[in-house]
Amino acid sequence: MKIFIKNSEEIKKIYKSCQLAAEVLEMIEAYILPGISTEEINNICHNYITKIQKAKPATLGYKGFPKSICISKNNVVCHGISNKNDILKNGDIVNIDVTILYNNYYGDTSKMFFVGNNISIESKLLCLTAQKSLYKAINILKPGIRLYKIGQVIQNYVESKKFSVVRNYCGHGIGKNFHENPQILHYKSNDYGFLLKPGMIFTIEPMINVGHYDVYITNDNWTVKTKDKTNSAQYEHTVLITNSGSKILTIRQEEKKKFMKI
Ligand code: MF3
Ligand code: CO
Ligand code: CO
Repeated sequence: MKIFIKNSEEIKKIYKSCQLAAEVLEMIEAYILPGISTEEINNICHNYITKIQKAKPATLGYKGFPKSICISKNNVVCHGISNKNDILKNGDIVNIDVTILYNNYYGDTSKMFFVGNNISIESKLLCLTAQKSLYKAINILKPGIRLYKIGQVIQNYVESKKFSVVRNYCGHGIGKNFHENPQILHYKSNDYGFLLKPGMIFTIEPMINVGHYDVYITNDNWTVKTKDKTNSAQYEHTVLITNSGSKILTIRQEEKKKFMKI
């Protein structure tokens, strides 16, 4: 199991792809309103990526995935497929997951959006907990830390809020490949894993559920849903291990002040 250490040239290219992916999430925010179909959201992103960014939406055709982004609503955990009959309504929570291929390198990020102003307290807390669990994991990253720590931090925090961490999907190394080693678990495992090293680039992308962590794949062979029909939330960043800590390659403008170090 080879883990690639990226050189500065590669880091620059991956950073570019990551920033393009982050910009798609920033761009689409204004469209996430009651009444829009998930298909329209997919098409707006597709056009932006291909025509304005001159980049490729990496999910389109990936292992047969039919759409340019993943849109996962309410009890959909991940890999949701857009549809013209799937109309967003007030109170929905939606994850949009964007992966960009540009100059032969990938960047991968996702976030939750609130549809309208009638979001339940439970849904808000779910999304906030998913986001905070990602930030807490990012905050411990530095060379010499064991991989195990990432899952430990996420699981401890999420369970302290009485939510559960999905086990079936994990973060991943990324670069010249969409998915490469290492696998990044979001929960504690028996394997303590290796030590983080400068130049490693991978995603952290915890999926957390209101109820039980069990999920299933629906009969379209992609859409992943919670077994108990409770809501699920996910945030994803691509991160680089630096000499002193880490850098969020998919950071958005609104997040920059949160991560300003004094
Ligand atoms: N972007 C997802 C991830 O975070 C992968 C989506 S694969 C697809 O790894 F085929 F469902 F698009
Ligand atoms: Co990913
Ligand atoms: Co993703």
